[in-house]
Amino acid sequence: MRGRLAIVLCLFIAGVGQTALATRVAWDPETLALVERGDPKRGQELASACSSCHGREGISANPAFPHLAGQLATYLYRQLRDYQDGSRQNSLMQGFAAGLSDQDMADLAAWYSRQRPPEPNLTTKASEPILELVRRGDSKRILPPCQVCHGESGQGEKIDTPRLAGQSQAYLEQTLKAYRDSSRHNDIYGRMREIAGQLSEEEIKQLAAYYARLR
Ligand code: HEC
Ligand code: HEC
Repeated sequence: MRGRLAIVLCLFIAGVGQTALATRVAWDPETLALVERGDPKRGQELASACSSCHGREGISANPAFPHLAGQLATYLYRQLRDYQDGSRQNSLMQGFAAGLSDQDMADLAAWYSRQRPPEPNLTTKASEPILELVRRGDSKRILPPCQVCHGESGQGEKIDTPRLAGQSQAYLEQTLKAYRDSSRHNDIYGRMREIAGQLSEEEIKQLAAYYARLR
């Protein structure tokens, strides 16, 4: 009885923690319209403040900085809002997002989402167990396949499931680890935290390598 109470209490605390910490962006019709009508020209001008890290057209030279080119506009907009209100924490990006208006974020998202996505070199092949995780998941750990949400070629899906194909390997690895230890906690219902929490160090490494090479 006491055990069960403890479990219920833990679930409750985890639930409250996650809703309090996760993104505060709601995809109501106004927000969607704001992003859909983002002005890429204005976004390009604003992006001069970002190019030292993310590259002139959203392809970053430093592997610790994510590529933004070809990413879903809705995902980009949401991440900027999340940095601004602290739902996603990173001292660099919180600083850059602080001064942006909602319109600025929609325009920046419009610009980057229209740039040509990164085109990686395809060299080594992924191992069978990694392809299994991507395509079929793992029923023993109740892990859904990555591709049901991120798409068959890692292209991302509406509304805000990000593109992974061609993303920087170092960034993918670092952000999966951040979900795993919950230092990144802006994912709705804690789904990515739940998934990454069950992955081993080696699986994270190989999944990051797989998606970084995917075109
Ligand atoms: C000094 C370097 C630097 C500058 C300048 C910078 N960023 Fe970033 N950006 C980063 C880093 C580092 C991360 C990853 C942070 C993390 O792990 O949360 C990031 C992450 C992001 C993400 C999340 C990407 C994803 O895949 O989740 C977006 C969106 C973004 N930046 C947009 C911008 C915009 C727009 C600007 C300009 C207004 C900008 N950044 C300026 C370093 C920078
Ligand atoms: C249930 C749907 C779902 C599944 C299954 C899923 N993801 Fe995600 N993933 C998401 C969503 C939604 C986000 C954006 C969350 C946020 O805003 O932080 C995300 C974010 C990510 C990011 C961050 C990308 C960036 O640019 O910062 C990575 C990396 C990632 N997922 C990898 C994976 C891998 C690897 C798997 C399989 C082991 C997987 N995901 C399975 C829905 C899913």
